[in-house]
Amino acid sequence: MKHRILVVDNEIRLAEVLAASLTHAGYAADASGDARAALALIEKENVDLVITDMRMPEMDGRALLHAIKRTSPDIPVIMITAYTSVRDAVELVKEGAFDYVSKPFETDEILQTIARALRLSDVVQDNKRLRDELGRRYDFQNLIGTSATFRRVIELVTKVCDSRATVLLTGESGTGKELVARAIHFNSARRDKQFVAVNCAAIPEGLLESELFGHTKGAFTGAISNRTGRFKLADGGTIFLDEIGDMPASIQAKILRVLQERSFEPLGSTRTEQVDVRVIAATHKDLRSSAANGGFREDLYYRLNVFPIQLPPLRERREDIAPLAMHFLHKLANETGKRLVNFTPQAIQTMTEYAWPGNIRELMNCVERAVIVARGTTVDVSDLPAYLFDSPKPASEPKLGQSDLDSDLVAFERERIVRALDEANGVQIRAAELLGISERSLWYRLKKLKIDVVKRVSA
Ligand SMILES: Nc1ncnc2c1ncn2[C@@H]1O[C@H](COP(=O)(O)OP(=O)(O)OP(=O)(O)O)[C@@H](O)[C@H]1O
Ligand SMILES: [Mg+2]
Repeated sequence: MKHRILVVDNEIRLAEVLAASLTHAGYAADASGDARAALALIEKENVDLVITDMRMPEMDGRALLHAIKRTSPDIPVIMITAYTSVRDAVELVKEGAFDYVSKPFETDEILQTIARALRLSDVVQDNKRLRDELGRRYDFQNLIGTSATFRRVIELVTKVCDSRATVLLTGESGTGKELVARAIHFNSARRDKQFVAVNCAAIPEGLLESELFGHTKGAFTGAISNRTGRFKLADGGTIFLDEIGDMPASIQAKILRVLQERSFEPLGSTRTEQVDVRVIAATHKDLRSSAANGGFREDLYYRLNVFPIQLPPLRERREDIAPLAMHFLHKLANETGKRLVNFTPQAIQTMTEYAWPGNIRELMNCVERAVIVARGTTVDVSDLPAYLFDSPKPASEPKLGQSDLDSDLVAFERERIVRALDEANGVQIRAAELLGISERSLWYRLKKLKIDVVKRVSA
């Protein structure tokens, strides 16, 4: 991709002349007549280098330099200065400018400075990206879970990593779709290129197309310059289309084309762009039935469903709850500097029995809360949120036909009462409150169910 250079000078004609010669030299160059407009542009677009005049009314070159260093420290800034203020320019280099050129200058001179600056910043950026990626490559090891269902997921992830096959991740909210998508990318041959995530449900329909495919200057009101879309940014890498079930129909057609031909046209452009991207899509919806009833393009569904991976909800792999909880406990304890080493067996049991409708994200939040609440080095039941006790336990629910309703109700009643007594340390009035019944009614039930109450000395 061409490097993008922004030339800033209050004498806009001078900026335009320089921009024109930079364009001629093969760069994508824009001219801006004042520092504030330049900053706004830098914030919105990918600018690789800025050349600015030093002396400008209102916000001068130095103020612009400082602002850029604050918000985008990696963008090299070259100062243009009058011969008489070279001394100031030297100061500015100390303050973070890449270099300066003094007026009048030859185009060749500035081209050399630009080339040097861009070479350096490319190296810096590549290093940074490699480092980031290296850090995240361990994501694969961070996929916690040893249950048979989860091992099957890991197996599929391992298999699909090294192909370019489109992957469709399905599963309830919080089951780890995004984490798995990253694991696939960072364990594939594409790991040194970008992983670009797009949440299709979070971007307004009117902006999604330009976000994905880019636009040309003037393609619509507000399109003040060309913009590179996410597909292009992911060239050579992976694009993660999250919540694809919420993709508007108009864009579904364009995605289908990218999947078929790896090509698209940016908004307002007639030029077809080619990209080499791996597509990973995710949804918590049932795309198959959406496709069957017309809510989602059927042809797109089949293109996406080449390699489906279904992430099981946590309640269907309860063996993973304890190791996940431990993983989060250690991670959070590390982050907060708290010394928390374990859960009590009761705490583990309570977490294992809970249904976790919000899956792993909910479990993580629960542990996070416990880490804040816990006073000792061990997280106990009392450190867990109360709603964990309120949900029925699907795991212990007998299947229909295997028991009768009356004995199920008795078992349920007994289990609730024992739990409330336990929570209340055997204090009956407190247990009755927890159960939402009168003390008398509790007493009656205790006799009926022959439950012995042992009062505990509170810890
Ligand atoms: N197997 C796992 N091991 C460790 N952490 C996990 C695992 N799966 C998910 N997580 C963590 O749980 C949280 C939720 O995961 P993620 O964001 O990937 O879920 P999601 O399926 O994309 O959810 P949503 O549909 O709500 O976007 C993240 O913080 C993630 O790091
Ligand atoms: Mg997600």
